[in-house]
Amino acid sequence: MSDVKLEDIVSLCKRRGFVYQGSVIYGGEAGLYDFGPYGVELLNNMKAAWWKANVRDRDDFVGIDSAIFKHPTVWDASGHATGFSDPLAECKVCHTRIRVDKELEAIDVTADEKMSEAEINTLFDENRSKIKCPKCGSKDFTESKAFNLLVKSNLGDFTGDNDRPVYLPGEACQGIYLNFKNVVDTTPMKIPFGIAQIGKAFRNEISPRNFLFRTREMEQADTQFFVKPNENKYAYEKAKQNRWQWYLDIGIKEQNLRWKQHENLVFYAADAWDIEYNFPSLGFDELEGFHDRTDYDLSQHMKFSGVDLNYQNPITHEKYIPWIIETSVGLGRMFLAVVSDAYTVEELENGESRTVLKLHPDLAPVKMAVSPLLKNKPELIEKAQLVYKAMKKKYGAVMWDDNGNIGKRYRRQDEIGTPKCVVIDFQTLEDDTVTVRDRDTTEQIRVSITDL
Ligand code: GAP
Repeated sequence: MSDVKLEDIVSLCKRRGFVYQGSVIYGGEAGLYDFGPYGVELLNNMKAAWWKANVRDRDDFVGIDSAIFKHPTVWDASGHATGFSDPLAECKVCHTRIRVDKELEAIDVTADEKMSEAEINTLFDENRSKIKCPKCGSKDFTESKAFNLLVKSNLGDFTGDNDRPVYLPGEACQGIYLNFKNVVDTTPMKIPFGIAQIGKAFRNEISPRNFLFRTREMEQADTQFFVKPNENKYAYEKAKQNRWQWYLDIGIKEQNLRWKQHENLVFYAADAWDIEYNFPSLGFDELEGFHDRTDYDLSQHMKFSGVDLNYQNPITHEKYIPWIIETSVGLGRMFLAVVSDAYTVEELENGESRTVLKLHPDLAPVKMAVSPLLKNKPELIEKAQLVYKAMKKKYGAVMWDDNGNIGKRYRRQDEIGTPKCVVIDFQTLEDDTVTVRDRDTTEQIRVSITDL
């Protein structure tokens, strides 16, 4: 990852229709991004690969898709209404707010958002002389205060003065806990088993930054594995191994991944680890979180809802509140890791360079591009269209590309990560063979159309 910069990735994503700044025609909106034509294909392929590995290929998992909006009490029960906050301080000169834990980290003082207000303020006071307001340069700040991250909505509020707002989810996984009993009652699943979901989450991040790394709207791919009390250790280790292997299976280089254990635990966790990825410009930082949540979630929902969420073993009739092992990854961070890992700049023999996204073929937004060698020769176009239609029927994500000369087409397809480029030339008209160029080696071979 050494010489690739985050700005190179942002530039490629914008230039090639992967990711756009949200609401850009109005000047953009912080922490919000839109996925373009190739971005949404890559995102959907990542989701499909994740779903296959975590639901389809597993006998002990089912998937759900819960509503974004939830009863307001869900966030009291989960602890987010009171305990889900970032430590913020305000510049007394220009009123800019800073995230105190992040400013401390930037000057190599170990801090995070899970510390108590008093702990953060002690560290802040010791280091005030080294922290400047990013806007006006002043060092005169208020003390650090916890700022809740939940985003409010006015759903169902027709008066405008509702003091029990329906929050948007601060974490997508609550939908899984709310449906635990439904799944037990309506499917043959027996503990130990898991529920997986890809769902939206929203956080009022004070300083959304670093492109898709820290956004205010995100999608989380979660697995929640329900186990018998005290049978958490094996399931936790297994979940960690499975997810690490999955990143290798989708082509992420192992040297760009590492484990980190949390020292300060979030309010719901008894143990927490992250898989960190070596993001360009940012270095190693959290990609996916692993939480040993014990019986916290189901106990809380049982207490607040009054509904019995105990599980009863159908054979022994033993009753207990299951413990939960969670894996949770933001798809934006996964997208950034996948694109960064695939991003390669190569020197060519003629002294020029090419940028190529060496994506795993299963993730590539376009699997194959089909081109006529020249676009002003009707006989080549007619033949190329026949090949294109046949390939599209066979592989789906196939692109017709007759824009610019052949060299430009190859550059464009390299940058969006298309594994194979097929060109129809004059020889095709004689012997029904085409050239197939490989993205990674740039080697071209001649193949019969029937063998494509
Ligand atoms: N349900 C557990 C949970 O939400 P988390 O560590 O707060 O735990 C899980 O978030 C994952 O969601 C993170 O590992 C990260 O990939 C992603 N994530 C969290 N906050 C994010 C943000 N502001 N922007 C983008 N992704 C984020």
